[in-house]
Amino acid sequence: MIIALDGPAASGKGTLARRLAAHYGVPHLDTGLLYRGVAAALIASGHALDDEMAGVAAAAALDLSALDRDRLSTHAIGEAASRVAVLPAVRNALLDAQRRFASQPGGAVIDGRDIGTFVCPQADVKFFVTANLEERARRRTREIRSRGQHAVIDDVRLDLERRDARDAERADAPMKMADDAHLLDTTDLDIETAFKRAVDIVDRFRDR
Ligand code: CDP
Repeated sequence: MIIALDGPAASGKGTLARRLAAHYGVPHLDTGLLYRGVAAALIASGHALDDEMAGVAAAAALDLSALDRDRLSTHAIGEAASRVAVLPAVRNALLDAQRRFASQPGGAVIDGRDIGTFVCPQADVKFFVTANLEERARRRTREIRSRGQHAVIDDVRLDLERRDARDAERADAPMKMADDAHLLDTTDLDIETAFKRAVDIVDRFRDR
């Protein structure tokens, strides 16, 4: 069983994906970490974020099992990741690893922006997880502050808005809800309620 989750930044899809993976006992891939890993490698080696050749090399050198969520989860690396993510050759260099992960025998939970539409159009259950901009800005600000870093909600809101636009408007595999995805708007839902709704939908598929 492949469960695909897509949606904008700070929508809650990552938390939901981790909960679903634990609940069904299947591995989880946060594909945002791949783009974050490429961005971090480019920054560390002093390359520009639009250097496509260096991006492809960094993508080829990524070790999926060694991606350090803590190191890669900063707001700044998320911003850099969305710049790297517009480069078709970089997206292409990350494609095989994502598809291989998704098609492992016991199934997988995989989240990102283009999973239900492009990486795994054959996924069994697809979710498009979203929340309004104000709520997402509140969540991301809280998250940054919980790591002891400084955040101003007006700046975070602007960053998210810019990043969403970049992700939705890029030519190659833009962020988009798949026609057969379930829309999960978490603006007024806590994680427990969102999780229960998702489990109901997945269980309905499993009972078929
Ligand atoms: O955690 P957050 O929602 O802020 O971002 P993320 O899921 O870690 O993704 C970071 C960036 O990587 C996104 O803004 C996208 O530009 C890019 N990305 C993508 O293009 N395709 C994916 N499947 C996953 C992430």
